[in-house]
Amino acid sequence: MDVYKAILSRRSIRRFQQKPIKLELLKKFVNAARLAPSAANLQPLEYFVINDKELCPKVFETLGWAAYIKPTWAPSKEERPTAYIIPLVRDTSNKWYPRDVSLASENIVLAAEEEDIGSCIMCKVDRDKLKEILKVPNEMIVDSVIALGYKAEKSIVEDFKGSIKYWRDENEVLHVPKRKLEDIIHINKF
Ligand SMILES: Cc1cc2nc3c(=O)[nH]c(=O)nc-3n(C[C@H](O)[C@H](O)[C@H](O)COP(=O)(O)O)c2cc1C
Repeated sequence: MDVYKAILSRRSIRRFQQKPIKLELLKKFVNAARLAPSAANLQPLEYFVINDKELCPKVFETLGWAAYIKPTWAPSKEERPTAYIIPLVRDTSNKWYPRDVSLASENIVLAAEEEDIGSCIMCKVDRDKLKEILKVPNEMIVDSVIALGYKAEKSIVEDFKGSIKYWRDENEVLHVPKRKLEDIIHINKF
């Protein structure tokens, strides 16, 4: 799969098959993150990989899902992520670290997409609870969580028509409105 194809086909996925992801693949995704651009090449990030059957449900409890879907929704036990990659920040005095995390995260989700593995970058995280569960050293920050698993839902992009809120249709297909190219591009003049 070429990169642009992966960019086009990647969507946030929040329902997963319970087939495990091989550790080799999870390591490959972290390697993709490791090689991402980093401000001044400072590389302040480390990654917690979780695929343990006992630990996954504990991580799950710290996450908030799909805020636009009402009533409040979370994946059922049979459709939860089977792995997580958690970007950790060691040096928070580096003010650019959120950009580093973003770029590394995109590398992770695109590398996952190439393997047909669904992902969801998540910032609605009870970080204190998660830090405690994972025994992350005090001086480090848990930035976000990337949920991973083989896809068990369909999500499609549609043109923005007045609302940016994603929604599910009667077949449980997720529709994600995106602003149109002609509405966001300025070529040579505004
Ligand atoms: C920084 C960031 C934080 C996000 N946090 C959450 C989250 O806490 N829970 C969730 O279900 N989705 C979360 N998402 C996923 C977004 O809702 C999703 O990217 C957006 O709806 C667009 O859909 P798409 O990823 O399929 O293009 C987050 C995405 C980003 C980039």
